[in-house]
Amino acid sequence: MNNFTYSYPTKVYFGEKSAENNLPAELEKIGKNVMLAYGGGSIKKNGVYDELMNILKNAGKNVTEFSGIMSNPTYQKVQEGAELARQNNIDFILAVGGGSVIDCCKVISAQAKISEDLWTFETEKHGSPNEFIPMGAIVTAFGTGAEMNNGAVITHEEKKIKGALWGAFYDFAILDPVYTMTMPLKQVISGAFDSLSHCMETYMGTPREVNLSDEINEACQRNIIRNLRATLKNPQDISARSELVWAAAMAENGMLKIGKITDFQAHMLEHQLGAYTDCNHGEGLAVIHPVLYRHMLPDAEKQFARLAVNVWGISPDGKSVTELANAFISALSEFIKEIGLPTKFSEMGIPETTDFKAIADSTVLTGGCCKKFTKEELFAVLKECAN
Ligand code: NZQ
Ligand code: ZN
Repeated sequence: MNNFTYSYPTKVYFGEKSAENNLPAELEKIGKNVMLAYGGGSIKKNGVYDELMNILKNAGKNVTEFSGIMSNPTYQKVQEGAELARQNNIDFILAVGGGSVIDCCKVISAQAKISEDLWTFETEKHGSPNEFIPMGAIVTAFGTGAEMNNGAVITHEEKKIKGALWGAFYDFAILDPVYTMTMPLKQVISGAFDSLSHCMETYMGTPREVNLSDEINEACQRNIIRNLRATLKNPQDISARSELVWAAAMAENGMLKIGKITDFQAHMLEHQLGAYTDCNHGEGLAVIHPVLYRHMLPDAEKQFARLAVNVWGISPDGKSVTELANAFISALSEFIKEIGLPTKFSEMGIPETTDFKAIADSTVLTGGCCKKFTKEELFAVLKECAN
């Protein structure tokens, strides 16, 4: 176990009617000018917008709307939001959506407070913003767990980088599983797979010997697999959905990472794939994971074998560690097919002519992965994913 410090700044309200029951009291603590930030309009179709607007109006807030935050939010969109926040003296940002809206607002909250370009400030000058517009998150699409951390994944279109910027933690997050019931099934599946990926990427970090975080992590993975299967049988199963929503948050609230350095090499590769193709995050991960793990196999046998037994329920009887490790990768690959996620980039509409070399070359190599990948090997991984 590595040394660690643990504290958590985000208050979570979980469950049905959490906004109705808790948002009014939260709004009493904040200033008058609220930015209501959302995506392409799903919240207008499913009634969430009307419900929140009523609560905001009843609380006497001046509401400035910031809409059209796209999946894989761009740095340009961040700048628009920051400008709007400055012009309207925004006191508080209420982000309503999935990971894209929630991430975009983290960076708006920081950029609105400094005149300097935040990308340059953070990535080139290695500065850390220390002033933010406070925020609350209302989760309508689960999966990323973005509501529970202060990292934001933003696409800088000119630089062709989808990278992490650091913003503020949300003061509170409202997780009402009912709000997620209108998510397209495709997004439910890719979101749940993203959560599973977060667990695996954390599990594969260092140190390698199992600790308490890993054992909680195994339970999270079993929970996601079981409840995604239940959801596919009955997409209206609110109990399965509730589990998935909380598992997504658990995977990214720091608890599983305690005492560990995480891996996240699959994520780094997928993010750059996203920078070049604007693809769906969970789908990109589904294609990359098994291929990357086959490359990691000789260095990761022990952990893979543990996952085979403790997560996928494969009997260890008569099997070597290598056989179990292979069985884990097969089980994961089969699961990806079973839940209908793509297994090749071509199934995602990503053409073979994509500049995979540039994607590999611009991918961050992570420190926690048990295999030290080179850019050449990541290029080979991408080529295997393509066809
Ligand atoms: O834009 P609207 O119209 O709202 O539609 C969205 C969007 O099209 C729709 N949606 C959301 N809630 C809905 C709904 N449709 C119907 N009913 C609802 N209740 O879902 C679509 C996808 O939303 P998006 O927010 O893009 O998806 P997701 O939550 O998967 O977020 C993806 C982004 O998060 C980043 C990804 O890279 C990507 O940019 N990530 C953020 C992380 C973090 N900060 O911790 C970790 C992740 O690894 C990930 O990288
Ligand atoms: Zn992810």
